[in-house]
Amino acid sequence: DMAEKGGYDHFMLKEIHEEPDAVKKTIMEVSDIKKVVEKFPKFNRICFVACGTSYHASMIGKYLFEGIVGIPTDVILASEFEFSAGALDEKTLVIFISQSGETADTLKALRTANEKAETLAIVNVLGSTATREADHVLYTRAGPEIGVAATKTYVSQLTCIYLLAICMGQNEKLLEEIHKIPEYMKNALEKEDQIKDIAKKYKDAKDFFFIGRGFSYPTAMEGALKLKEITYIHGEGYAAGELKHGPLALIEDNVPVVAVVPPGESHDRTLGNVQEVKARGASVIALGSCNDAVLRSESNDIIEFEDEIRDLWSPLPYVVPLQLLSYYMSVERGIDPDKPKNLAKCVTVE
Ligand code: G6P
Repeated sequence: DMAEKGGYDHFMLKEIHEEPDAVKKTIMEVSDIKKVVEKFPKFNRICFVACGTSYHASMIGKYLFEGIVGIPTDVILASEFEFSAGALDEKTLVIFISQSGETADTLKALRTANEKAETLAIVNVLGSTATREADHVLYTRAGPEIGVAATKTYVSQLTCIYLLAICMGQNEKLLEEIHKIPEYMKNALEKEDQIKDIAKKYKDAKDFFFIGRGFSYPTAMEGALKLKEITYIHGEGYAAGELKHGPLALIEDNVPVVAVVPPGESHDRTLGNVQEVKARGASVIALGSCNDAVLRSESNDIIEFEDEIRDLWSPLPYVVPLQLLSYYMSVERGIDPDKPKNLAKCVTVE
């Protein structure tokens, strides 16, 4: 068992450590991605469909496709697809994101979409049902993932989505930049000991909030999902700008708020939100640049990135500390992070 886990205590920890490599291997698929893109007709709408962690990867996809390719993009939960995907036609590309390629809701949506639109499945498991039914297929190269909570498959899904948007938008500059990402992620893994200490400090919290804006909003959502899945602590991911519309009422002394605040367009406004929760007694755990003195002064704990990572790329390295934080909190609470209660790796019922 220990051998299978490569010396790590759990598959989840092993899989988090495999992330830089999973991203690198997925980047090597770029020629396959280009081939698929060459076959595409001109689309005027993109629609992402997924569940769980794959849905959060899709949310980033919306920002990328609208920003890099300039195509209006929707993101729909697979279980909501039949209620909200009205206007599909042959000019729409529906992209299904699924680790397993077997999630029942995702397959059902794929079958509906196949009748009206062009479909693409981005999947980790070779030969899975989604890969056999979609018009086009791209593989994420994360290798088998055993931990129920998705980690390395999430970052390889993101990588594949970045590459797809970059190829469709023919953006050579971004295609060069992506090669730096595995190194940024390796450096993020170096924060492990610090994160272990933070996990000890907050392991008995009842509620957690995760906030971020723009590219950091899905990251906040994913941070909260990881927390729920493997620590059984209530975690809520929120768009930082929505704080004032509800969650601020729940902020009181010592409520942990994880703030994802990379440098870039959204930085100052999210920093403003950090100051708001801080003024109401929250314990702020921030993720940001090592050059961000103001953020540091507002935070109880800060996980700093030494690399210059602009917000467009932040979802990949910034999710790493969040996964590690949930992992170590889970272990501290005596839970097996690989097998959380009531959850399955692959949900094959609607
Ligand atoms: C389950 C898993 C999650 C996963 C979700 C979607 O809930 O526990 O980790 O994100 O299904 O799965 P898929 O295989 O379609 O990505």
